[in-house]
Amino acid sequence: MNFMRALPGSRLAVHAVEPPGHDLQERTPTKGQTMSTSSPAPLLDLELRAGGPAAVRVDAGGDPIGWMTGHRDSVRAVVVEHGAVLVRGLGVADAAGLAGLVQALGVALMPEREAFAPRQDLADGVYSSTKWPANQPMCMHHELSYALEFPGLMAFGCVVAPDEDGATGVADAAEVLAALPDELVDRFERDGWLLSRSYNEEIGASWAEAFGSEDRGAVEDYCRAHAIAFRWDPDGGLRTRQRRSAVVRHPVTGRRCWFNQVAFLNQWTLAPEIREYLVEVYGEDGLPFNTRFGNGDPIGEDVVELLNDVYTARTARQPWQAGDLLLVDNIRCAHSREPYTGPREVLVGMADPVRLADCAPTVDLTTEVTF
Ligand SMILES: [Fe+2]
Repeated sequence: MNFMRALPGSRLAVHAVEPPGHDLQERTPTKGQTMSTSSPAPLLDLELRAGGPAAVRVDAGGDPIGWMTGHRDSVRAVVVEHGAVLVRGLGVADAAGLAGLVQALGVALMPEREAFAPRQDLADGVYSSTKWPANQPMCMHHELSYALEFPGLMAFGCVVAPDEDGATGVADAAEVLAALPDELVDRFERDGWLLSRSYNEEIGASWAEAFGSEDRGAVEDYCRAHAIAFRWDPDGGLRTRQRRSAVVRHPVTGRRCWFNQVAFLNQWTLAPEIREYLVEVYGEDGLPFNTRFGNGDPIGEDVVELLNDVYTARTARQPWQAGDLLLVDNIRCAHSREPYTGPREVLVGMADPVRLADCAPTVDLTTEVTF
């Protein structure tokens, strides 16, 4: 199979190459990710700079969907090669515009399940950004890395750029993995990571919002089908626990990636005053979300700090301009959101669903998880 690949350099041509054979072991191409090379892909004038994602400035001649349709193989090849690309010049203005560009890429949008904070479902599988305080960062994470099926591609479209800051950062998950201490990686590969959630009516998404149903039975069925242990509280709240792989293989490149939300959803990533407040109100076992080692052991503040520091050192960022499109390979790259001031409207499309089972998980889902 041929894959499209961009060569390193400041201005790049895109051409077809055969990926190295040793990378192909355990690789299972995911539906929608196989790329046609039957006709030469148009060239992309790619800009690469240290500290920023790959970027391309395009003149779509008033037809962004037509441009994307004609350049789909090249754009997807750049995402495979670099993990993310900022496309400037397509004039993303609303949810329908973002959905159209994703569809022009030839990948399917998917609904979000198990959200940790509410979003507005705008149209066609495109959502508002997660409601999260503007002055608090959203640290690096991979979208829905705790689900059994997650987006292979994230598409962010900037409708209103913030006055200051508020970039969506990206970090290469293969580089993050390589930078972590061997013992820590070994432990997470062996035990996986555990996500515990406690749904209430005040903080984050309610269980009905997260599971898309107000029917308790439907939620229980979903949990059983998706390897999620659950327990109802007497007050109607819901607690869940799920154990997942912390390291996976990319389904297209075979590259090992640090793929999880161990740090982002851990109590030690919260601002100290917020953590103290939540622990006081809900208790350490009742936090809206928290992460542990897969065997249930707590993760120390030092480990969470190390993970966030490794992400920070590898963060590539480019300030938003209205109309920008940022495509992120959700397995290869983590993403973040910086604090900001002023209005900010960045829409999100989750696309190209990938099954955890196709990513060589290291953790057995049939092992029982208890509270
Ligand atoms: Fe996200």
